[in-house]
Amino acid sequence: MKVLVTGGLGYIGSHTCVELSKKYSVVIADNLINSEIEVLDRINNIAHSKVIFEKIDLRNKKEVAFLFEKHGDITGIIHFAALKAVGESIEKPLLYYENNINSLLNILEQVQQLNSEINFIFSSSCTVYGVPLNLPITEEEPIKKAFSPYGETKQICENIISSSSKLNMNLKSISLRYFNPIGAHESAAIGELPLGKPQNLIPYITQSVAGVRGDLTIFGNDYNTPDGTCIRDYIHVVDLADAHIKALEYLSDKEFSTNEVFNIGTGKGTSVMEIINSFQDCTGKKINYKIGGRRKGDIDATFADNRKSLNTLSWSPRYSIEQALESAWNWEKNYREISE
Ligand code: NAD
Ligand code: WQD
Repeated sequence: MKVLVTGGLGYIGSHTCVELSKKYSVVIADNLINSEIEVLDRINNIAHSKVIFEKIDLRNKKEVAFLFEKHGDITGIIHFAALKAVGESIEKPLLYYENNINSLLNILEQVQQLNSEINFIFSSSCTVYGVPLNLPITEEEPIKKAFSPYGETKQICENIISSSSKLNMNLKSISLRYFNPIGAHESAAIGELPLGKPQNLIPYITQSVAGVRGDLTIFGNDYNTPDGTCIRDYIHVVDLADAHIKALEYLSDKEFSTNEVFNIGTGKGTSVMEIINSFQDCTGKKINYKIGGRRKGDIDATFADNRKSLNTLSWSPRYSIEQALESAWNWEKNYREISE
């Protein structure tokens, strides 16, 4: 199988390409808006592979048509490419709608013109659930108004894929709703590379411990949780990468067109305070922190009911939270050339 991976040089895409290229031939399409070209060599070094790279802006119809002309023999697509900063999406909603929705439309337009079957995986997010009514969150949880234009693009894209699957008998599709991806490959050669000040908890912690940022601010300790800090479902990025391969295999085995959604999380909630304690225990590094006010839009707790993925995709997470945190720190050390 030849698989097109959009956004394959990004955080989750690069880890998925490493796993994918062990079995399949891989073509990455990325415009490098939030990634570095060096990642391509790192993927190929880790996996001893020859992943092909096409510098394509997926917003550009002509470039996308060229991509499909050149690689008309693809049978799988994993569509990671998107802008993902929640705060930025509130400041620049049009940029997010344009990038995330038009990229998908351009790809699906090309898929429609292919005469062959396509197994299509879309990167969705637990953000589509908004404030959940039930915990853990199942895929049956009603979709409510999104908090941000970013979240809205995920809801819209899921709907577009579902409508397209109903009409295109060659299209078999899955939206994977990721919870909170963290960690890095065991080689520490690839990992999360946030632009500017990290908005997410783990990269902020690793950069703060590395001395690149100031003390961590815990955004609120008055939530309705046992220790007052928010609870999330943190999933190791290599486990997440594996879920994409299992999802592709599941689709390949399906005889008819389908469109399904799956939660990808560990099923276990961990509070910000528990993350801090685990990080300190497993790395031996102290995190300096202070308690600040709540961050707008944060909710008390989210974690996945992952039984559908476990039972249907024959997938299960292998890494513990400690292994994920340790790998995140190893990546940060390697990237900053910190020796201990
Ligand atoms: P990332 O920013 O590291 O990777 C995205 C990649 O897409 C980048 O390499 C970027 O250059 C590329 N890209 C963006 N727009 C493009 C365009 N128009 N044309 C070509 N390439 C383009 O992000 P990530 O963390 O790896 O996330 C991957 C996907 O998973 C995204 O769709 C994101 O919304 C989704 N997701 C991420 C998280 C998370 O916490 N990281 C959680 C849930 C869902
Ligand atoms: C985790 C917890 C913060 C930073 C985001 C997106 C979501 C999805 C995953 C893409 C929260 C707290 C954080 C800090 C802190 N992405 N925190 N101090 O908000 O659960 O989800 O990433 O689809 O859409 O919103 O993840 O890592 O930002 O925060 O106290 O400096 O850490 O308040 O409780 P979040 P996060």
